[in-house]
Amino acid sequence: MDPNRVIVFDTTLRDGEQSPGISLNAAEKLEIAQQLARLGVDVIEAGFPIASPGDFQAVRTIAREVQGPIIAGLARAHAADIERAAEAVRDAERPRVHTFISTSDIHIQHQLQSTREDVLGQARAAVAHARSLVEDVEFSPMDATRADVEFTAEVLQAALDEGATTINIPDTVGYTMPDEYAAFLTRLYVLVPGLHDVVLSVHCHNDLGLAVANSFAGLKAGARQIECAINGLGERAGNASLEEIVMLLRVREADVGLTTGINTREIARASRMVSRLTGYGVQPNKAIVGRNAFQHESGIHQDGVLKERSTYEIMSKASVGFDDVSSIVLGKHSGRHALQSALMDLGYDVAGQTLNQAFKRFKELADKKKQVTAMDLEALVTDELRAD
Ligand code: KIV
Ligand code: ZN
Repeated sequence: MDPNRVIVFDTTLRDGEQSPGISLNAAEKLEIAQQLARLGVDVIEAGFPIASPGDFQAVRTIAREVQGPIIAGLARAHAADIERAAEAVRDAERPRVHTFISTSDIHIQHQLQSTREDVLGQARAAVAHARSLVEDVEFSPMDATRADVEFTAEVLQAALDEGATTINIPDTVGYTMPDEYAAFLTRLYVLVPGLHDVVLSVHCHNDLGLAVANSFAGLKAGARQIECAINGLGERAGNASLEEIVMLLRVREADVGLTTGINTREIARASRMVSRLTGYGVQPNKAIVGRNAFQHESGIHQDGVLKERSTYEIMSKASVGFDDVSSIVLGKHSGRHALQSALMDLGYDVAGQTLNQAFKRFKELADKKKQVTAMDLEALVTDELRAD
């Protein structure tokens, strides 16, 4: 495989579904999984099969019906979880079981109420059991970024000894920082040399708004799988947003040198679908998929974009699948040039004194209305033309 190719592991249907209030039925999950396949993700984490009979069914349906991506099911490091996950993904073209156990002392003492020794044994047994059922096994040391790096390395070594094929390093509570996360991964590469022979993966939460930055730092440190979700959905403040990390790699490809297999023109459709089916709206100023992401309000910006789009746009809206309709929002900050261009789009070739008059009336209107619509413009210009 190309060493610069990043595997996109989408967890919208698992970690994303853990967002408060989201509960997708099997048909909805299948619809999203089919769109994820069109988008070109490499791995779909379809759910947590032991969690409920409905989730088991949804994962099984996706495994049977969605071709292309690897289909993964999540499992705690318990035999029953692993068996249920393996059964759910069994019919996939390429099934994967993803098993995890925490390595931080906070989790070991307070949540698992266990010991490091037991965790090490459980991790080893879980990976061995999963490998007896499927060939492709991912292992995650949960809360790794708050764990002792030496102990985490010991657990990873055990997972590799038992045949794990992907090692994922979760920043479960979104606590780490880019330099720190990269240093953590670099240290693991030193402590566990076998990591160079498998895929290292990043899984970052967004509690401090650093999920994408931390994931990117992880890729620069050598990871080649990124776990992410459409619209950045996920537990609490969410996961790294798929569209943001993918477009970062695309827009800065010449500098970073990493690629994905994502068909970016399917991003907008995926975002709208996930928003509709989960009921989670997208904030207007969200990078890449927010409704303002390609809109220009200030007169200076509008003037620049009308002369040459690259003045204020680093990617085209068409490249992420939005229709290439006008990205100019007319409001009180807009200039004469933007008005003239909007009128031209509506079929009115207006210049000179008529444009000056129309512009004056437009500014009066814009002071009263937040956004001036095409209908307002038509009314305004036809009045002006009539007065001529
Ligand atoms: O955030 C996390 O630690 C997880 C694991 C299950 C990978 O979602
Ligand atoms: Zn997570």
